[in-house]
Amino acid sequence: MNAKLTFGSQQAEETCLFPERMKTPGRNEPCWCGSGKKYKSCHLSFDDKINRYKFLGHTVPTRDLIKTPEQLQGIRESAKINIAVLDYISENIKEGVSTQEIDDWVSRITKEMGGLCAPLNYEGFPKSVCTSLNDEVCHGIPSDDIILEDGDIINVDCSTYFNGYYSDSSRMFMIGNVEPETKLLVENARKALDIGLEQVKPWGFLGDMGSAINEFCKSCGYSVVDEIGGHGCGVEFHEEPWVSYTSKKGKEMLMVPGFVFTIEPMINMGKKDIFTDEDNGWTVYTEDGLPSAQWEVQVAVTEDGYEILSY
Ligand code: MF3
Ligand code: CO
Repeated sequence: MNAKLTFGSQQAEETCLFPERMKTPGRNEPCWCGSGKKYKSCHLSFDDKINRYKFLGHTVPTRDLIKTPEQLQGIRESAKINIAVLDYISENIKEGVSTQEIDDWVSRITKEMGGLCAPLNYEGFPKSVCTSLNDEVCHGIPSDDIILEDGDIINVDCSTYFNGYYSDSSRMFMIGNVEPETKLLVENARKALDIGLEQVKPWGFLGDMGSAINEFCKSCGYSVVDEIGGHGCGVEFHEEPWVSYTSKKGKEMLMVPGFVFTIEPMINMGKKDIFTDEDNGWTVYTEDGLPSAQWEVQVAVTEDGYEILSY
């Protein structure tokens, strides 16, 4: 998640996670990545390549967004909890379960595995997980009063903190007999991730991914929410950049090995327009009342493509 206004406009410098890593070493000095190798035989040519893109006017990731092997391992450990929680939900979710019970499961399993639920108290969010039903686009708040019914679709968005690292992913669940059109929305929202993932490779752009998702969704007659997007993720819950799924091919941030972000398009059956619940300040709904679906994966760009970290 992330509203454009609160996140996308921040300058990289302000949000820099490792200021010391931003300094360029001399050729024979240790590389900024912590490998212990000399800069000239480690990231020098990598930096040169990034700088060429920057010179051409592209947005490039700052070094603090490029994860070291150690950081990637930390995110994988966090993701083990994240995935286990979602696996538990998929095995136990059914008609009659309240969204508060889902919150209890998430909280219990996360703690049992030594982690913390990142949403709890995040900017005042009152629960441990987001549960968004039917026409709720995202940030649904678990409650004893919300009981899953036959025909519901629900997104459970789980964000985990473990030992210094964040993982973030979400899945859709269908309760009982879901209308065929709605079922198709859920299935196509999953397919949209695969279509986006095909575009994740080093020296491509986030816009290649965003435009592929948007084109696919439009071809299905759906619309992609453009006011809320994804984000870098791993050392912080929400890192730069803000990630759009309606972006243009060849635009947005350059993808380089070690860059970690979420793919989490919110796909509406009807119009893209949304509004936020005035009473709780969180839950986002479709304006037209039609259903919305979202799956989320956290990915790392690798030397030859991508690695899915949490799903
Ligand atoms: N998990 C959401 C995301 O994908 C963020 C939810 S923030 C919360 O980025 F406060 F609502 F939990
Ligand atoms: Co996210």
